[in-house]
Amino acid sequence: MSWQVELRGVSKVFDERVVLRDIWATVTAPGAWTILGPNGSGKSTLLRILAGLLAPTGGEVVYLHNGARLTAHQRRQAVGLVAPDIALYRPLTALENLRFFTRARGLSLSDGELLGWLERVGLRARAHDPVASFSTGMVQRLKVLTALVHRPPVLLLDEPGSNLDEAGMEFIRETVREQAGDGIVIVATNDTRELGYGEPLVQLGG
Ligand SMILES: Nc1ncnc2c1ncn2[C@@H]1O[C@H](COP(=O)(O)OP(=O)(O)OP(=O)(O)O)[C@@H](O)[C@H]1O
Ligand SMILES: [Mg+2]
Repeated sequence: MSWQVELRGVSKVFDERVVLRDIWATVTAPGAWTILGPNGSGKSTLLRILAGLLAPTGGEVVYLHNGARLTAHQRRQAVGLVAPDIALYRPLTALENLRFFTRARGLSLSDGELLGWLERVGLRARAHDPVASFSTGMVQRLKVLTALVHRPPVLLLDEPGSNLDEAGMEFIRETVREQAGDGIVIVATNDTRELGYGEPLVQLGG
């Protein structure tokens, strides 16, 4: 069971502004890597391209499983992404949001299992409250869960520690450690608390 992700000469140009230029990199499971760079250097853009949400201007991203190239559909199943611009459904409860995201992935987890995940991030007692009533850090914990519950082999985290307190950061550290044990995790960050999550993969803007 080997997973590999390859960036093959990836570039991205927005309105004539070159954000990413000819990036080559390969990651093979298991392990953790970081994408580093200051604000506006292209970290989120690169993660979106890795997740298949944005097409590169040049080059390509290739996902391989046991040497076989994944289709776009298989790739969506294989990836979990946590990013600041991913929105939860605010009128729905935490549990309803988890149900929605798992079903969207074609999975059916029991409420018992989903409540177990909520327990892990300290949200069990708030499972039936609407997300609109959550604090920023609580929303961030729930966002991480929506990317995790389907146990994707490739986990992409865009500044996962934003708005998290020490307990929240510990959950992220644990998540990265677990994921790096058998899968791939790539963390985009310029937060000094997150630099040690993995081996530097790409250094942008400098
Ligand atoms: N959809 C878009 N249209 C035009 N320009 C964009 C778009 N998305 C990103 N950019 C530009 O690409 C550059 C990189 O943005 P990106 O969000 O990837 O940076 P970042 O490294 O994640 O920054 P931060 O640390 O602030 O999160 C910026 O100049 C940004 O304005
Ligand atoms: Mg960003």
